[in-house]
Amino acid sequence: MATKTFSTAIVVGASSGIGAAIATELAVTKGTRVALLARRSDQLDAVVASIRAAGGDAFAVVHDVTDYDAVPALFDELVGRLGGLDLMVYAAGVMTAVAEHEYDFTKDRFMVEVNLLGTMAWCNPTAAYFEGRRAGTLVGVSSIAGERGRRDNPAYCTSKGAMTIYLESLRNRTSRYGVDVVTVKPGFVSTAMTEGREDLLWIVEPSQIARDTVQLAAAGGSPEVFLPRRWGAALAVIRNIPSPIFRHLNI
Ligand SMILES: NC(=O)c1ccc[n+]([C@@H]2O[C@H](COP(=O)([O-])OP(=O)(O)OC[C@H]3O[C@@H](n4cnc5c(N)ncnc54)[C@H](OP(=O)(O)O)[C@@H]3O)[C@@H](O)[C@H]2O)c1
Repeated sequence: MATKTFSTAIVVGASSGIGAAIATELAVTKGTRVALLARRSDQLDAVVASIRAAGGDAFAVVHDVTDYDAVPALFDELVGRLGGLDLMVYAAGVMTAVAEHEYDFTKDRFMVEVNLLGTMAWCNPTAAYFEGRRAGTLVGVSSIAGERGRRDNPAYCTSKGAMTIYLESLRNRTSRYGVDVVTVKPGFVSTAMTEGREDLLWIVEPSQIARDTVQLAAAGGSPEVFLPRRWGAALAVIRNIPSPIFRHLNI
C-alpha cells in the first residue's frame, strides 16, 4: 500500500504530552499544516512557537472538548481555515487519581466526558466529512488501561475500554467508504499524566509514540495497535489472567 501524505490535520489535546508530540511530528517532519486544540492557551502557543521555529506550519485554537455543542461549527471553521482535512487525531485525555476507598462520581464523570464523549463529539463530524470525501484518516489515542478493569481507576479504564470499542465500530462503519480509523494503545509514556511515577514498566518518551503513530497512520489500513509493540504480548497474557486472580494483582 502506498504511503499516505497528510497536507492538513487537526490534533485535539495538543498542548502537551503525546498530542503535542504528534502535532510536532506532523508539522515539522511531514510538512502537515496543523491546527492544535486544547484548553491551555499558553501551552498551546508554546508548542506552536516551537513548531514554527523548526519551520513547520501550525496554529492554536483554545477549546474545551466538553463543550460538545461547539464542536460541529468549530470543525467546519477549522476545515475552512486549513483548506480541507486529511487527518484528525484525538489525543485529549485525563486520568484523575482515585484513592483506594474513594468513590467520587464527579471525578468519574469528568474522565468519561473528556476521554470518551469528547472522542465521539470530534469523531462524528470528522467521520461524516471523510465519508463524504471517500478519504481521510482518524486517529484515537486510547490506552492499555482499556484492556482490563483494573482496581486502581475504574472510570479511566472504562473510558479507554469504551473508546477502543467505539473506534472499532467507527472503523467497521467507515472503512468501506475509504476512511481509515487508527487506534493506538500506548503503555506508559513520560508525560504530565505519569509525572512522579518511577515504578512504571517500559516507559517511553512521547516523541517515540508520536513517530510510531504518524507512521501507522501514513501506512493506512486502519490498524489497532499497542505502542510500543511489545505491550501486545504482555496484554495477551494479562487479558487471560482469570478474574479471581487478577483482582489480587496490582497491574
Ligand atoms: N501518559 C501515559 O502513560 C499514557 C498512556 C496511555 C494513554 N495515554 C493517553 O494519551 C492521551 C494524552 O495524554 P498525555 O499522557 O499526553 O497527558 P497530558 O500531557 O496531560 O496531555 C493531555 C492532553 O489532553 C488535553 N485535554 C485534557 N482535558 C481537555 C479538555 N477538557 N479539553 C481539551 N483538551 C483537553 C490537555 O490539554 P489542556 O489541559 O490544555 O486542555 C493535553 O493537551 C490521553 O488520552 C491519555 O489517556 C497516556
